[in-house]
Amino acid sequence: MNLKIASFEEYKQVYQQSVEQPEQFWEGIADNFLWRKKWDKALEWNFKEPSIKWFQGAKLNITENCLDRHLEEKGDTPAIIWEPNDPNEDHRILTYKQLHDKVCQFANVLKNNGVKKGDRVCVYMPMVPELAIAVLACARLGAIHSVVFGGFSAQSIADRIIDAQCEVVITADGSYRGIKEVPLKSVIDDALVRCPSVKRVIVLTRSHTGVSMIKGRDVWWEDEVKKVETQGNPDCPAVEMDAEDMLFILYTSGSTGKPKGVVHTCGGYMVYTGYTFANVFQYEPGEVYFCTADIGWITGHSYIVYGPLSQGATTLMFEGIPTWPDAGRFWDIVQEYKVNILYTAPTAIRSLMSFGDDMLKGKDLSSLKKLGSVGEPINEEAWHWFDEKIGHGQCPIVDTWWQTETGGLMISPISNVTPTKPGYATLPLPGVQPILVDENGKEIIGNGVSGNLCIKFPWPGMLRTTYGDHERCRTTYFATYPDLYFTGDGCLRDEDGYYRITGRVDDVLNVSGHRIGTAEVENAINMHSSVVESAVVGYPHDIKGQGVYAFVVSPNKHESEELTRKDIMMTVSRIIGAIARPDKIQFVSGLPKTRSGKIMRRILRKIAEGETSNLGDTSTLLDPGVVEEIKSGAL
Ligand code: WT7
Repeated sequence: MNLKIASFEEYKQVYQQSVEQPEQFWEGIADNFLWRKKWDKALEWNFKEPSIKWFQGAKLNITENCLDRHLEEKGDTPAIIWEPNDPNEDHRILTYKQLHDKVCQFANVLKNNGVKKGDRVCVYMPMVPELAIAVLACARLGAIHSVVFGGFSAQSIADRIIDAQCEVVITADGSYRGIKEVPLKSVIDDALVRCPSVKRVIVLTRSHTGVSMIKGRDVWWEDEVKKVETQGNPDCPAVEMDAEDMLFILYTSGSTGKPKGVVHTCGGYMVYTGYTFANVFQYEPGEVYFCTADIGWITGHSYIVYGPLSQGATTLMFEGIPTWPDAGRFWDIVQEYKVNILYTAPTAIRSLMSFGDDMLKGKDLSSLKKLGSVGEPINEEAWHWFDEKIGHGQCPIVDTWWQTETGGLMISPISNVTPTKPGYATLPLPGVQPILVDENGKEIIGNGVSGNLCIKFPWPGMLRTTYGDHERCRTTYFATYPDLYFTGDGCLRDEDGYYRITGRVDDVLNVSGHRIGTAEVENAINMHSSVVESAVVGYPHDIKGQGVYAFVVSPNKHESEELTRKDIMMTVSRIIGAIARPDKIQFVSGLPKTRSGKIMRRILRKIAEGETSNLGDTSTLLDPGVVEEIKSGAL
């Protein structure tokens, strides 16, 4: 069965088949991949425990699908095009052959450093080809990678390393982001003070800044590669994996204070990311595909590395930021490499839009054929700007809804095949069975309705567990509504049956497409010595989508309000990372609580949104007076 669907008619027919005979459907999709041994059983599952097993008995290595199987026909085709932060630095192109060799070489480095199947390896790196190489080298050996986004603090890294008991860390001296330099190794050094499990740190040279190197623990990437070269064995056979062996852990925020390690497995994840990439973007050989995400997030895992490479695509990796040296950078890249497919985020679109259309003058965007959006609901203004100014009305926009937990795209148009509609993720991909439920878990049928979005049947890319704590996986995703996977999103299904995601219904914020738990930010704020308690909510933000609004009780401020505000910001940066820093901090004398002591977030959310006229019923509050004070002090 072909991964790509060719017409809307075919979509309808294939979708129907995928619901009636899901196992058969997915077996047909899985046949497009390279297996050392095929499965004995396509699927075994229950959402109670949950226990989900796809392609049981099958043997594979995902890197043979991403690298080895392309060597014969595509050995000289570019696999990765890398654009550096500084446009004056040389770009790099790695063909499939070169990427294969580098992955094998670095896998041998890992082997020399004691890494073996099942070991956890933390990767904290800049957006350079070596990041993709490190990830693939882990996969080649069956080691489980846990990539941590370069913007997270030492504390956050330490929490993640401890949770996964990582033994090896791969990092770089520093990374470039616009005019800024991030001292990655130094952040790792701070993290490792708390991480006795780490025996080895492999450090890539990127920024040439001075770093501390600890004898017996820290080694240079380049030195280790040289050793492998002198050992004279360029190849590294891929380790045979079971379909359900772990491929990686990726931490993501939820409604509690502690991020959870979402676990994806080899077979299902490979099939799902490859299938969705090929189908949704309708990738054609020779096309240049540019996804602007960072590999530190799931979008980068699935749609910079694994999905495109398993399909033999040319994937463009960009180290820098969209606004440096100026807000025309993406368009320079599109022009220079004749990018055909651009996959980006609403927050980037809104940000670039705000610089005005002058930034587009003289840029040749005629190579673009298909556009994509991911991470948060896209507002109509941004959608139309993207359509008209970037796509010149000629490129379909796929608004792809999915999550870290889903592994790959779930609800999305298929480029040039199914209809698009501004603000809508439109229709489920074949193999995906969404349903809307009310508060009590009762299915809402028919069209022109909204409810909580759930998925009622497994798909190969779904998470299998949360690392080290299966019960947490069950309670977070499978216990709210029996026998359903709960996404945490609210959703509308219009008269035509098209889905529009309306945003999270739990205490998770979406700031610039990044997921941030309010409880996590509150914990960080509460660590500040003069804070008694706090409550964090989201509010609409023109560029970020949502901003972080903190209500803070701090009766004894240090020097001034302004300074305390800065101190709190610094504290959050230290504890979580700059991405979680509150945009607004309002000092209050108390928080609105019910008599049982529960914070009434509904009221705080309304105040943060600037909607103070109708706060609803406040009679159950312990101290209704506090609401007036908060209202009048709103920022
Ligand atoms: C949450 C998942 C999926 C990769 C990036 C984010 C929101 C994601 C869309 C979209 C509306 C979207 C949802 C979802 N979201 N894509 N196209 N339209 N909302 O991954 O960090 O796991 O966040 O992002 O709220 O639950 P993530």
